[in-house]
Order: sequence, then structure tokens, then C-alpha cells
Amino acid sequence: MVFTFKNFPADRDDLRVDVLSGLAACPKSIPPKYFYDELGCRLFEAICAQPEYVLCRTEQALMTSRLSDIAAAIGPVDCIIEPGAGDCAKVRLLLDALHPTHLAVLDIAGAPLAAAAEPLYRDYPDLGVTALGMDFIHDLEAAAPYLPTGRRLVYYPGSSIGNFPPDAAATLLARFRRLAGTEGQLLIGFDLKKDPQQLHRAYNDAAGVTAAFNLNLLERLNRELNADFDPSRFRHYAFYNPAAGRIEMHLVSLAEQDVAVAGQNFHFALGETLHTEHSYKFRCDEFSAIAKTAGWPLKAEWEHDGFAIQLYG
Ligand code: TRP
Repeated sequence: MVFTFKNFPADRDDLRVDVLSGLAACPKSIPPKYFYDELGCRLFEAICAQPEYVLCRTEQALMTSRLSDIAAAIGPVDCIIEPGAGDCAKVRLLLDALHPTHLAVLDIAGAPLAAAAEPLYRDYPDLGVTALGMDFIHDLEAAAPYLPTGRRLVYYPGSSIGNFPPDAAATLLARFRRLAGTEGQLLIGFDLKKDPQQLHRAYNDAAGVTAAFNLNLLERLNRELNADFDPSRFRHYAFYNPAAGRIEMHLVSLAEQDVAVAGQNFHFALGETLHTEHSYKFRCDEFSAIAKTAGWPLKAEWEHDGFAIQLYG
């Protein structure tokens, strides 16, 4: 079968434009999709292996233990589409259970994606694999011409949907719906609301990997936007905000300082925060209400140890 890789180069100078406008805003923020340069991708994989960060392992345990139920509920599928596929490890269980003829993996980090997708193609000789290096938040619709017709399943694991505010999550789910079509389905995994201390620990691992992941954003701006951040003068600060139902991840300035980015100067007051990511946590009914507004009727759900997988379509 065929392996296709296509990189969609950013058609605007996205990183520079988004970072400069985020740093000029009050409070300052940078979109989380910019975490994922090559080092960011590796650090993210290391987060998933930390003892405190159980999310990925819990999801895989749930997928493994309920795989035959999940596959039976989904039924026959021709094409699996995974936005934000990263190292392409999670989808293997579904490939084994569903035997689709085609897999399309999408990720903003094009080179790591191509490297991860190629072995898949070797391990599943009958599978057509399309790897699209794209910012799917921006370009999702551009994937459509690369997908075969037939029954489509969008797979969105890892609680990545929680990294969008609820209204943006609903918009993204509606775009998944259009891509999947009215006969299409969505299998989505998300983290549930739970003991705040447990959530707090997950985003503050003792080895400091999540901190390194967060601070790598500043190093990336130094590398790619000619910035002069001193990462030792910023602190990773992540906490659970129960009223908002989300982990908030920030980089807090430990001093009053000026930083140059792409030729512009930005002032940080002592204690000022640069917001880098939210990770929303849901209840099952809360999430299915959001999905319903995006045109997805709930078909089935599975839950284990503070994590949920829902099937829509
Ligand atoms: N979406 C997952 C979560 O919110 C994984 C993730 C994304 C993450 N960015 C992260 C985990 C930053 C830790 C830190 O948990």
C-alpha cells in the first residue's frame, strides 16, 4: 500500500505573528500548539512516562481492556483520522481491532510525524498511510482531499480536547464532524474532574519534566525568533482551578525584566504571568453536552480511574 507524506508549510509567519500578539496582550499568553518543536515533542513523550502523569497510561489501559466492546460499538471503518497523532503509538490498538484500509495522521510537528508514521506503514503492510504535517487548528479542511471516501472515524485521544477552551473545543468538534461526514464517527478520550491534589501532582512531576516542557517554549523562541529569554528567570507554575475546572499552566516572571523577541521589546513585571496552556477536566455529561452542540450524538462511553472514552456518531 501507499505511504504519503505531505507537509503544509504555514502560509503566514504564524509563530512570529501569534507570539508577538500574545506577548502584547494583557495577560500575556502563547498558544500551546507552539510547545511542539522537536525537543517539545520528545519532552511531551517523557511527560507521559512520569509516575505522576497517569493520564496516558490510564487511557491505554482502558482502551486495551475494553477494546473488543469499543470495536463492536464502532463497527466497520474504512479510514481512521487522527489529528495531533504525535508518535503514532496510540492508534495501533485501533488498527489491530478495526482493520481499516487507510490511516491519516495529522500533526503540527511534520518531521517527527513522518518518522513515526513510516514504521506503521511497515508494520501494517495492507494499510494506506497518509501523514500530513499541518497545523490542523488552522488547516484541518485541507486534509479532506487526501482522505479516501468511505466510513470515517476521527480518533482524538489524550485529552487533547481539554487544551481548548469549551467554545473552541465545540468549534473544533464541529469541524471534525464535517470532516467525518454524517455517517462518520468520533472516538475521543478525555480526563475527568477528580481530586485536585492528584491533578496538581500530574502537572508538577517531581523530575521536573513538565516544567522543562513549559520552559522549552522560551528556548524555542530564543532559537527561532531571535529572542533573549533567560529561562532561569521564569518559573513553571501549574495549578488546578476548580471553579473553572481546569489545570492552568503559566510561566511566572521571577524578576522585573525586559525581553526582546523578533526585534520587539516586552516588559515583565515581577510576578507577571505568561499563560501557556489550559487543560480542562470534564464530567461525562458535561462533555457530551458540548459534543451535542457540535452535532455529535453520543453512542457509547467507557470510564475507568478518572478517565473517559466516548463514541459519537
Ligand atoms: N492533553 C493532555 C493534558 O492536557 C496532554 C498535555 C498537553 C500536557 N499539554 C501538556 C500534559 C502540558 C502536561 C503538560 O494533560
